[in-house]
Amino acid sequence: HKDLVGLEDLTAAEITHVLDTASAFKDVGTREIKKVPALRGQTMVNFFVEASTRTRVSFELAAHRLSADVINMTASTSSLTKGETLKDTALNLQALHADIIVLRHSSAGASKFLAERLDASVINAGDGAHEHPTQALLDTFTIREKLGRIEGIHVAIIGDILFSRVARSNIHALLKLGARVTLVGPSTLVPHEFEQMGVKVTHDLDSVLPDADVVNLLRIQHERQRKEYFPSLGEYTSLFGLTKQRAERLKPEALIMHPGPINRGVEIDSELADCSRSVILDQVTNGLAVRMAVLYLCAGTNPKRG
Ligand code: CP
Repeated sequence: HKDLVGLEDLTAAEITHVLDTASAFKDVGTREIKKVPALRGQTMVNFFVEASTRTRVSFELAAHRLSADVINMTASTSSLTKGETLKDTALNLQALHADIIVLRHSSAGASKFLAERLDASVINAGDGAHEHPTQALLDTFTIREKLGRIEGIHVAIIGDILFSRVARSNIHALLKLGARVTLVGPSTLVPHEFEQMGVKVTHDLDSVLPDADVVNLLRIQHERQRKEYFPSLGEYTSLFGLTKQRAERLKPEALIMHPGPINRGVEIDSELADCSRSVILDQVTNGLAVRMAVLYLCAGTNPKRG
């Protein structure tokens, strides 16, 4: 595929191929291997209409490791502020010979919209509450790396599921790869309709923890929520926060994951975020190899860019 707009339409074999390619790339960027020439001569535009630390920087680093040229662009300093449309903006970037556009946007479907209209590869770096495919790929990569497999693993995704693109992409990836998924959170943020996707839904975190191999804690996305969906922070932490007391219910080998940014003391106790079972920074590190794999597999084989 020239683009990566989501995981919903990928097969298990395609997802596994990305993870295997990422494994092969994981050494690049170490002191021994600085760079590979895979995308030499190609230009990637990192176009972030929403804020980002991890995704933006790791895409930039990934492109550098593959020897591509990189341009970073934010909405606030672009001519979007003068009323230029997203499509016109992207067509202009392509006219400047951009081969890859990495897009983060607040509207669901923004990446697909551009992918269908451009010859350049379009990579979704998060579109509204829809999908964040590279986050889910780096999450599944980390689970596979730490636990040796995905099939049969029980993953509890906890928190704000309704507004979470990370949750949606994780659900697609994990189910395709044979994991069991339980969604946990307040009924307003984790409605039973999600069960149609093939996951379990519960509002009782304590009952899930002893059986989970992985707990993936999501940030409460104040920027996407209307107040009526959300309990007070204190109420949320008392019911759904991973406190030290609650963590005692976990299996000793269970992984603690979080896509970041963390609200310390809200969805996770600060010490737990830094404890030996936490793989939160491993996820970030793995994001580099996963994004190298995605750029390589999409742009490296894009027939429209020769
Ligand atoms: N997990 C994630 O997407 O983080 P950023 O918003 O910092 O990129």
